[in-house]
Amino acid sequence: MTGTAPAGPAPPGLALAGPTAAVLAAAGDVRELLTGTELDRAGALRSAGDREDFLAAHALVRLCAGRLLGRPAQSLTVVQSCGSCDRPHGRPRLLEAPGTGVSLAHTRGWVAAAAAHGPVGVDVETLDGHPLDQRVAEAVCNEEELAAVRAAEDPRRAFLRQWVRKESLVKVGAATLDGAARLDLPVYGQRPASWSGWRLLDWGSDRVVGCVAAREEMRLRLLG
Ligand SMILES: CC(C)(COP(=O)(O)OP(=O)(O)OC[C@H]1O[C@@H](n2cnc3c(N)ncnc32)[C@H](O)[C@@H]1OP(=O)(O)O)[C@@H](O)C(=O)NCCC(=O)NCCS
Ligand SMILES: [Zn+2]
Repeated sequence: MTGTAPAGPAPPGLALAGPTAAVLAAAGDVRELLTGTELDRAGALRSAGDREDFLAAHALVRLCAGRLLGRPAQSLTVVQSCGSCDRPHGRPRLLEAPGTGVSLAHTRGWVAAAAAHGPVGVDVETLDGHPLDQRVAEAVCNEEELAAVRAAEDPRRAFLRQWVRKESLVKVGAATLDGAARLDLPVYGQRPASWSGWRLLDWGSDRVVGCVAAREEMRLRLLG
């Protein structure tokens, strides 16, 4: 059939997440995907685990954007700048699709990435069995969040639930890490799962918690 597709609502943005090993298996040869700059950054990491997490996250953001845009992941170039120095780090963007928002995150053994028609931020944290660090919680949470975190069955998990929301809002450019404790974010599990027009898509498993922040609807696929 030929002709122009009827104009409908834009398809939702896409987030992908999974264990590093599963993502690397799905990505194929990461050297065909990443830039020399990214491969150099990976090569400078001392721990093999950190290198794999970095490579997987930077590959996954191409797989994600490629699926959203309907083009091969190999055809997309990720560039990064922080606005403060000349090092190739900071918020990622796509050279070939500057209007498409992309974001990535890596934690020990897990990675996440997101691509959307507007700004998007993603974060993931592993539940490592450590107890809640009260000082970190006080620095990051407001009074209402602190009360909810301390009353939770698993305070560390409850804290990380709020933390990944805040980091995804930082990555989208809606908040700063310094101002995290002043964000009047809804407590995880209470409605609405949004803040100041940003939708918060919470996800997780026994081992990880994550969040995606975007203005638009997002769908999430877990790999592995
Ligand atoms: C954004 C930030 C909170 C995420 O850090 P993190 O929890 O350690 O790591 P995550 O795995 O969750 O996310 C890291 C990814 O976020 C992206 N990122 C970094 N800074 C970002 C920013 N300002 N906005 C959006 N995304 C950003 C990068 O892709 C980075 O991955 P990479 O280093 O492999 O390229 C942290 O990088 C930060 O505080 N940045 C602001 C301060 C800064 O830029 N300092 C250096 C200036 S010289
Ligand atoms: Zn910098």
